[in-house]
Amino acid sequence: MLAVVLVGGEGTRLRPLTNHLPKPMLPIVEKPMIARIVDWLATHGVDEVVLALGYKPDAFTDAFPEGTVDGVKISYAIEPSPLDTAGAIRYAADSVGFRSGSLVVVNGDIVTDLNLADLIHFHKESEGLATIALTPVDDPSAYGVVPTDSFGRVQAFIEKPERDKAPTNLVNAGTYILDADVMKLIDSDRRVSIEREIFPLLVERGELFAMASDAYWLDTGTPERFLQAQLDILRGERIYGADIEYAERRGDVFLAPGAELEAETKGHVYMGFGSKASSGAYLKDCVIGSGAKVAPWAKIIRSVIMPGATIADGAVIENSIVGSDAVVEASASVRNTTIVGAEAIVPAKMSLDCARHSL
Ligand code: GTP
Repeated sequence: MLAVVLVGGEGTRLRPLTNHLPKPMLPIVEKPMIARIVDWLATHGVDEVVLALGYKPDAFTDAFPEGTVDGVKISYAIEPSPLDTAGAIRYAADSVGFRSGSLVVVNGDIVTDLNLADLIHFHKESEGLATIALTPVDDPSAYGVVPTDSFGRVQAFIEKPERDKAPTNLVNAGTYILDADVMKLIDSDRRVSIEREIFPLLVERGELFAMASDAYWLDTGTPERFLQAQLDILRGERIYGADIEYAERRGDVFLAPGAELEAETKGHVYMGFGSKASSGAYLKDCVIGSGAKVAPWAKIIRSVIMPGATIADGAVIENSIVGSDAVVEASASVRNTTIVGAEAIVPAKMSLDCARHSL
């Protein structure tokens, strides 16, 4: 089966991390998010993937020059200008000559254990043109809310409603099965949104269905959820595309080859290839990327330190993300969903709270 993965967005909510790498190429416990998504798709019978590219396409083509991701054949559809979600799907489908049957579409920032085979089966049974996977969330106001009748036929597609006006907490999980006929509804020469144009059109025609599942699902688009995606893998809360590479395991602490751990730890900790956390440092629920260094008396709590970053003596990183090759100097503090961009320097004793700090 063919899948189109939408990976062309700018990932503005994760800036400055996404200034250098597109969101789906950011690592989730040291493996690019897109590779984890492809692993999940392959588990459910997808054998061909088209990446719908727009923003920084070279990051993908350079990372996977062989045209495969973990053994699954991938091809690239690079939009000349951003076509928005539906435009991107049509462009990608056309690029591989998709004309009949159905295909899977996934947003490239979703990590999930959703059973795709069940969704495909439901789609065939319902005989609609498109089926959306639904997932329950606490606050639906940031998502597309999708009320259905008892047969799963979608009654409305309400994009980002006010919290108290949402008719259900079941939202668009960014995973769809679309028949080839849906492509005919999408103009090929302009930006078209699947959420704002195509789904409402299919609702009017009674051709849109949806199926809810309470399988693990997370949209990694915000710093908080990007962090959570990593910790959920370390905690073993995921099934598909959740492998972690390590040479040694000490309880809930995973050490990749060449990692040196002298620091005190608590909770779930991953130390990447050749990383080092010195004696006197404290690590709790965190990922230390390959080659990253944590100096004595530094504290890393519920955070991700990306490859090659340096955390100096006495610095504190809490609930935050430090980009690749960044340096957090001595006694600086980085807290409360701060993002430090790749190669940025946080000067000694500087305090960052819910900040975006880049070069
Ligand atoms: P934010 O800017 O932080 O909202 O992130 P985003 O750019 O990823 O946007 P959003 O989360 O709304 O996009 C949902 C999915 O569609 C993501 O996987 C994007 O990569 C993808 N996407 C959005 N617009 C386009 C586009 O014009 N072309 C392609 N190929 N993909 C797109």
